Amino acid sequence: MAEEVILITGGAGYIGSHVNRMLSAKGYRTLVFDNLERGHREFVRWGLLVEGDLRDAGQVRSLFAEHNIGTVMHFAAYAYVGESMIKPSEYYRNNVAGTVNLLNAMLENGVMHLVFSSSCAVYGHAGAQPIREDHTRRPVNPYGRSKLMAEQMIEDCCRFHGFKAVSLRYFNAAGASCDGIIGEWHDPETHLIPLVLEAACGRGPGVQILGADYPTRDGTCVRDYIHVEDLADAHCRAMDYLDDSSGFSAFNLGNGNGYSVLQVISAVERITGRKIEMEICDRRDGDPACLIGSHDKAREQLGWKPVLSELDSIIETAWKWHLNLDKLVAKTGRNTSQ
Ligand code: UFG
Repeated sequence: MAEEVILITGGAGYIGSHVNRMLSAKGYRTLVFDNLERGHREFVRWGLLVEGDLRDAGQVRSLFAEHNIGTVMHFAAYAYVGESMIKPSEYYRNNVAGTVNLLNAMLENGVMHLVFSSSCAVYGHAGAQPIREDHTRRPVNPYGRSKLMAEQMIEDCCRFHGFKAVSLRYFNAAGASCDGIIGEWHDPETHLIPLVLEAACGRGPGVQILGADYPTRDGTCVRDYIHVEDLADAHCRAMDYLDDSSGFSAFNLGNGNGYSVLQVISAVERITGRKIEMEICDRRDGDPACLIGSHDKAREQLGWKPVLSELDSIIETAWKWHLNLDKLVAKTGRNTSQ
């Protein structure tokens, strides 16, 4: 029988590609399954790439028939809160129905270990901060609901089919690989840090501050930014954790510290040495004032500790990647927001 591989759905995307790289560096054989709709072929530099779509149950079945899959890391999903409010059914089809196809194929092939890419969006409007894993899950948009539904299906597979699964609920994933080889490349880009870096390059009209009248230290929203390589490390630990655990577990992956939009902009100005044009705009629908995650449980049970998630490390690595992205774009002829 062929050597066992770790299946990484969505491994051509932002977080999946960093996890693929880290697993490969640790000597694991990886298999990326990605439709490349939002992922990038250039990011699959490690392991094998199979182009395919989780929404197609036949393709998923063939994937499991053709490869000796031991563990699944499931990233493939749509992940724009705003878009999810315009096209909810697409989110349920991709994020929920796609997960059903994956779970069925796992069951049919006796693949029982799963690490799931979830989000703090499952909590909705948070009460007490930092948010703990036992906080009520009451998402406020279809994206968050699609992640919660997937979590619930996975929990049921653990309860009734003997699965073992870890759900990792990310706060604000940010930064790039320390050598600047892979990083954040979205179309369209809606996330704060890459948009501020775009503005630092003098592109676009500058940064829009989406609300400066929140009940926070400077009136702008506070978020818990977590470095993508710290996230990758948590995935490797979660996979090891499955060996000795049972059932379903969920962990928040946050830094435990919050930074406001204005703090992010001023850190980018300091690190890049460039002045950022900005304007104060109206609030964006659905933005909570403050989201900070407690990572006590991940620290205690996974032995995980963010080491790159100081705001400066996040921005330095994101800046290095951003400059490389310009070169990549010049080479591939694609525009930066592709
Ligand atoms: N922001 C601006 N200007 C911009 C873009 C963002 O001021 O041009 C602000 C937002 O209002 C927010 C903060 O910067 O307060 C961070 O915004 P991001 O879009 O970078 O990230 P979000 O906090 O909205 O989104 C994150 C994850 C989602 C997750 C969501 C949960 O990216 O996957 O948190 O609320 F679902």
